[in-house]
Amino acid sequence: MRDASLVVVASRLPINDAAASEGVFEWRRSPGGLGEALHPVLINKPATWIGWADKPGPTPPLPDVDGVHLIPVELSEDDIRDHYEGFANSTLWPLYHDAVEPAVHHRRWWEAYQRVNQRYADRTAQVAAHGAVVWVQDYHLQLVPAMLRAQRPDLRIGFFLHVPFPPPELFMQLPRRAELLRGMLGADLIGFQRIQAVHNFQQLVAKVLGANVDERGIELDGRVTSTGAFPVSIDTAEMEALASRDEVVHQAAKLRADLGDPQRVILSVDRLDYTKGIEHRLKAYRELLADGRLKVPETVLVQVAIPGRERVEQYRQLRDRVEREVGRINGDFGRLGVAAVHYISQVFDRTELAALYRAADVMAVTPLRDGMNLVAKEYVAARVDGCGALLLSEFAGAAAELTQAYLVNPHDVEGLKDTLVEALAADPSEPSPQMATMRAQVRAHDIQAWARSYLTALEAACAGR
Ligand code: F6P
Repeated sequence: MRDASLVVVASRLPINDAAASEGVFEWRRSPGGLGEALHPVLINKPATWIGWADKPGPTPPLPDVDGVHLIPVELSEDDIRDHYEGFANSTLWPLYHDAVEPAVHHRRWWEAYQRVNQRYADRTAQVAAHGAVVWVQDYHLQLVPAMLRAQRPDLRIGFFLHVPFPPPELFMQLPRRAELLRGMLGADLIGFQRIQAVHNFQQLVAKVLGANVDERGIELDGRVTSTGAFPVSIDTAEMEALASRDEVVHQAAKLRADLGDPQRVILSVDRLDYTKGIEHRLKAYRELLADGRLKVPETVLVQVAIPGRERVEQYRQLRDRVEREVGRINGDFGRLGVAAVHYISQVFDRTELAALYRAADVMAVTPLRDGMNLVAKEYVAARVDGCGALLLSEFAGAAAELTQAYLVNPHDVEGLKDTLVEALAADPSEPSPQMATMRAQVRAHDIQAWARSYLTALEAACAGR
C-alpha cells in the first residue's frame, strides 16, 4: 500500500462506469458533479480517492486515473438500495433541499447508512498515512468524520457538504438528528457552501447537542470543530481555454444552424432532478408561447437533462412528467422539422458542452434549491466573448456570487416569464458589463482558490488544537 497523505473520501469514485466496464479507466466528468469539481485540484497529485465503483459487489484493484490512486469500497445491492438510494437520496437529499419532495424515513435505511459509513471509515483508517489530511465529501458520509477519529485520532479530518444544509425546522424532522450532527463534529473543519448553512448548523448543534458555539468554533466533549463557508467553483481557465478553441466556435455556429438559425437560443443543462425546477421552467416557457410573447422558430429552448438515480421512484416519476410536458409543448407549438424544445437526456462531452454554452443567448439555471450550481459558473466562464445572459435562481448557492445575473424566484411563474423575456431582449452580440463582472468573479474565485482556502483553513484548525 502506498503512502496516502491526502485522502479524499466520497460516495463514488470519479470514474466513468460505462467506459470502465470496457476496461478503459477515465475520470468521470459530468456537468456540475463532485468528480468534475475535484478533478483539477487532485490530478497528478499524490492523492488517494476512496469511494464506490458504481456496481454492486467486489471491485478488483483499479489503476490510477490522472495520477490519483483509487481505492474501491464495496457496496452490496442492499447497501445501494438502503444507503445510496434510501437514506442518502430519499431521506437526506429531499430534506436538505427544502423538502420540495417529501423526505421518506425507514429505520432499515438508517442501519444501512451507519453500516456503510463505517465501511468507508474503516477503509480510510487502513490506508491513510500517519497525520494525513482526510477530506470527507458530502451528505452520503456524514458519520465518517467521527467514526474515523475514533480509530485514528492522528488524522487531520475535513468535511465538506456540497448540498445545502437546511434550517433547523427541517433538520429537526430527522429521527437520528443528534447522531448525524455528532458524526460531522468528528471533523476538525466542516465546510459549507454558504454562510447561512454555517448558521443553521451552529444553531442545531447548540440546540440538539448542547454544544458551546463561540469564535473559537464549536466545542463538544472537550474537542473544538471549526466551521466556515467555502463556495465551491470550477476550473475557470480550463473552460475559458476550451470555449476559445476555433473548433468550439465553429461547433457553436453549427449548432445554431442545426437548430434552424433562431434569433434566440435558451439553454438549460441539469441533472434530471426535482430540485432543478425543470417543470417550473417548462411551464413558464409554455405559457410564453401560448401568450404569443415568444414564438417558434424565432426562439427555441434546448433542455439537456442528464438522467440519474433512476431507481428512486421520485426520479422515475419526474422523468415521465418532464418528457410528457416536452412532448406536449412540441405538439402544441412545434412544426414539422421545427421543435419548440430540443430535449436531450444524454451526457455531453466537455467540448460539446462548451459549444452549447457559446451557442446559447440565455442560459436558464432555475433550481428550486441548489447547494451551488456549477453549470451557471461554467456558462459564465465559457462566455469569453463577454456576451450572453444568465437567468439564475435566487435559491442556487451561485446567486450569492453571481449577483449581476437576471435573478429569479422560480416559484413565481409570472416573474420567471417576465425576467426570461427581459433577458431575451438584450442584444446577444453585445458584450455586457454584467457578464464582465461575473467573469471577473469566477476568475478570481476558481476551484483552485476554493481548495486552497479550504485546506489552509483545515491546517489552521488543526494547528490550533
Ligand atoms: O452535489 C450532490 C451530488 O450528490 C454530488 O455528490 C454528485 O456528483 C451529484 O450530486 C450527482 O449525484 P449522484 O452521484 O447521485 O448521481
